[in-house]
Amino acid sequence: MKVRNAAAGLGMMASLAGCGEQGPQLSEPAQRGRSTYVANCTACHAMDPTRTGSLGPDIAGSSRELIEARVMRAQYPPGYTPKRASVAMVALPHLADRIDDLYAYLSEVAP
Ligand code: HEC
Repeated sequence: MKVRNAAAGLGMMASLAGCGEQGPQLSEPAQRGRSTYVANCTACHAMDPTRTGSLGPDIAGSSRELIEARVMRAQYPPGYTPKRASVAMVALPHLADRIDDLYAYLSEVAP
């Protein structure tokens, strides 16, 4: 039945669109952080930061210090043991004023 199939398709689209949405419980900084994350990080990290991405590891729950070191300098804080031995991530220092938002988002979605 064409009509029923169309309805099923729409339902699937709706649930796909819901994927990655963390719901209204995110704080305002975390919502901004999610936008920044989706626009700048998901080429390599997963849409869901608790999961492994195409290139980058899961990063939900990362400390602010770690996020800043990675995003500003593509480095790690002193003494930190990286999840990956690769050196594929580039620094994105134009996001300097987004670190707090990214930290809020990655903290609030952490399990
Ligand atoms: C070009 C692909 C790419 C982009 C874009 C990228 N990353 Fe990464 N990221 C990686 C890879 C790959 C690693 C693993 C280390 C490496 O190879 O540099 C990593 C590692 C990290 C780590 C450390 C994980 C750990 O605990 O060892 C954090 C935190 C991180 N990325 C945050 C971000 C954030 C935040 C953004 C967006 C602002 C971002 N990355 C954008 C590829 C990327």
